[in-house]
Amino acid sequence: MAKMATSMVETGEDAFRKIFKLYKRRNPPPDFSDVIDFSKGVPSDKIIPAKLDPAAVSDVEAARVGLQPVRNWRAFGLQGYQGFIFISNPFLLGSQSFWVRQCLKTYPQKPNVCNLDMHMSPSDTQDIWGKSVHSLSLPPSGKRQPKTLLERLRWVTLGYHYNWDTKTYSANHYSPFPADLHSLSYQVTTACGFSGFNAEAGILNYYRSDSSLGIHVDESELDHSQPLLSFSFGQSAIFLLGGIHRQDPPTAMYMHSGDMMVMSGQSRLLYHAVPCIVPAPQGQTALEIEGCSQDSSLLNSTVVVPVSGEDWVLCSRYIQSSRVNVTVRQVLGPGQSFPETPPLHQRNDARC
Ligand code: SIN
Repeated sequence: MAKMATSMVETGEDAFRKIFKLYKRRNPPPDFSDVIDFSKGVPSDKIIPAKLDPAAVSDVEAARVGLQPVRNWRAFGLQGYQGFIFISNPFLLGSQSFWVRQCLKTYPQKPNVCNLDMHMSPSDTQDIWGKSVHSLSLPPSGKRQPKTLLERLRWVTLGYHYNWDTKTYSANHYSPFPADLHSLSYQVTTACGFSGFNAEAGILNYYRSDSSLGIHVDESELDHSQPLLSFSFGQSAIFLLGGIHRQDPPTAMYMHSGDMMVMSGQSRLLYHAVPCIVPAPQGQTALEIEGCSQDSSLLNSTVVVPVSGEDWVLCSRYIQSSRVNVTVRQVLGPGQSFPETPPLHQRNDARC
């Protein structure tokens, strides 16, 4: 399961760890020339076209969640990674700003759970956005200011809330999964040929420019027949996709703002990691402009609605130095339920 974005270093030495450390290194900076950049369309014997099902999602359904018509998506697979699909920013102009705003303003709200809840009271973490807005909109004073709650946000969980200690989900730690993100996930998986994807859990990771995410595999979901989805916004990341064994050497690729990954089949349970955050390429910081200009297909969208100028000032400032990644999972298969947890007294009896 995904670990929270951290600067923690893994233990043990293996091929994956060596490459992780290489890309995490700051001084001297690593050579990024081997990193696959799907946005550049540079031919490589590793990159293969991915087959989508453009007829499965109408242009109207796609536009409702802020996506271009599926026939225009640039989707790729990787040689040797069956079930892995990389979609290079399929969002309509102007729609990423909506998703960024949801990640920063809406999804951190209660009843969703975040890292700050681990050591603060619910009333203190009630309105992360509202409590941060004032300080973040002040011009930099040159003086070191205490970090706002938004700057201290590292992760948020949605739906079945992931328990980082037990690495499990449970029936009784649940809040309704956001309908807009459910729809986005449904349309993306449908376009990729999956039917009936039911988004039940989400983990948002918030990365500052020096954050990383350790080597891990996402396996806590009870059903692995549906894909794992990943959406990225803001600054770019180096994403390392390894094999089924932790030490297998990984392939490095860029994840830019708007990019998506769909991991299914053999790729559903592969080790992966984010060793570093890198500046978004010139021109892709166009996200800044996206708050003002919108694709006309968005006009009739009921899901992706315009972001106010006031909200966008803060969002664009945040993503100028940060990245947000959203992973979406289906936890249970059709008709499946969580295993019964025996009542507490029975569990105590069992230990005696
Ligand atoms: C994850 O593996 O949970 C997130 C990966 C990413 O940030 O791209």
